[in-house]
Amino acid sequence: MRDLMAITARPDVISLAGGLPDTSAFPPASFAAQMTRIAQESSAEALQYGPTEGFEGTRDCIRELMAAEGMEPDPEDIIVTTGGQQAIDLVCKTLVDPGDAVICEGPTYPGAVPVFSSYEAETYQIEMDEDGMRVDELEALMRRLELDGCRPKFVYTVPSFQNPAGVTLSGERRRRLVEIAREYELVVVEDNPYGLLRFEGDPLPPLYQLDGGDYVVYVGTFSKILSPGIRLGWCVAPPPLIEKIVLGKQAADLCTSTLAQYFVIEYFAEERWRDYVDRLVEIYRGRRDAMLEALERHFPEQAEWTRPAGGLFVWATLPEYIDTGDLLAKALRDDVAFVPGSAAYVDGRGSSAMRLNFSGSGEDEIREGIRRIGRVVREQVALYETITGEHPRPARVSTEHGDPADVLPLRRREMRR
Ligand SMILES: Cc1ncc(COP(=O)(O)O)c(C=O)c1O
Repeated sequence: MRDLMAITARPDVISLAGGLPDTSAFPPASFAAQMTRIAQESSAEALQYGPTEGFEGTRDCIRELMAAEGMEPDPEDIIVTTGGQQAIDLVCKTLVDPGDAVICEGPTYPGAVPVFSSYEAETYQIEMDEDGMRVDELEALMRRLELDGCRPKFVYTVPSFQNPAGVTLSGERRRRLVEIAREYELVVVEDNPYGLLRFEGDPLPPLYQLDGGDYVVYVGTFSKILSPGIRLGWCVAPPPLIEKIVLGKQAADLCTSTLAQYFVIEYFAEERWRDYVDRLVEIYRGRRDAMLEALERHFPEQAEWTRPAGGLFVWATLPEYIDTGDLLAKALRDDVAFVPGSAAYVDGRGSSAMRLNFSGSGEDEIREGIRRIGRVVREQVALYETITGEHPRPARVSTEHGDPADVLPLRRREMRR
C-alpha cells in the first residue's frame, strides 16, 4: 500500500486508489483567518503540549458531531487521538495479546489489517452482502469459538458506507449485532468516519446509540468531514477501557497536536461545519454518479460493483481468473491506480476485487480513470476467453455512447491440448 501511494502521488497518475477527501473544497480564506486568530489570541497555548485526553473544547466539538448522528457520549469517556487510525491502534494495544481472536468484516478497512497483524491477532473475517456484515455468520462464528473456549477480544466494523465495500449495515442487522454483543459480552468497535457523508436515504442509528456505550467502543475522525492533514480523531469507551487507552497514548505520543485541536475548536466556533459537510456531500454525490455511470459504460458485463449511498468507495468484483494485483501493474502503465482487493483481507482473499475511490478526483478524471481500468479488464477477459475458448458474452457497453475501440474482443482460437 505504501509503494502504491508513492506511485499515485505522481501528478500524471489518475489515482482512484487513495481515500483522499477533496480538501480543495475548504475555503483557503477561512483557513487563513482561523489560523491568524489562533496566532494572535492563543499563540503560546497552541504551540504548547496538551493533555493526553485532549482539550475539553475539542471534546465539545466531538460531542456536537456525535449528537448530529444521535449520540450523547459522556465527555469523560472521550479521548482525542492522532486520527482514527491511532484510535484503532490504541484499542488493539489495550486489548489484544498475541494469538487473541479479533473479528472484522471481509473485506475490511485496509488500514486496519496491518494493525491487527502487528499485534499478532488471529483475525476472522465475516462475509458481507449489500446489507453489510452477515451478522448471522458472526453469530455462527461466536458459537463455534465458544465451543473451542475462545473469546474474541472484539468485532471491528465500519457500519456506514464501509471502506472498502461502500455498503451499509441495515437497521435490522445493527439491532441484532448489538444483541449479539450483549449475549456474548463481545466488545464492538464501531469505526464511523463516513456516517455524515450520506448522499440519499434516511440515516441509520449508529451502534453506539443503540447500545448506549456499554459494549460499543466508538471511533471517529475529523479526516473526512474536515481534513486528514490535521490528524485528529477520537475514541469513546467506558471508563475502565478509556483509562488504559490514555496510558497507551501517553506511551505513544503524549498528546494529540495542540495546534490541530485549536484549529478545530476555532472552526466549530464559526458554526458552519454542517454547511461544509453538505458541500462535500454534494461534490461526492456527483463523483459517485460519474463513477457508476463510467463503470456501466466501460466495465465488461462479467464485473459487478456496489452502489454506495454515501462515503468514498465503490468495490468492484471481477471474474475470479483476474488477479487485481497483476491488473494493477498493467493499469499503472496506463497511469491509473486502484487498491487491489487483497489489501482488505488478512488471508489473500479478494484477489479478484478492487477498491475504487471517487472523492479524490474530479468527475472527468474519474470517467477517464474508469475507462482506462475498463480497457485493461476487458483485455484480460478477452485473453481468458481466447485461451479457454469460452464463449464471449455480449459486452455491457452500449453502442449508444460506448467507444468500440475500447472493447474489441480478441479473436478466439482453438485451445491446444
Ligand atoms: C474506516 C476507516 N477508519 C479509519 C481511517 C483512518 O483515518 P484517519 O486516521 O485519517 O482518521 C480511515 C481512513 O481512510 C478509514 O477509512
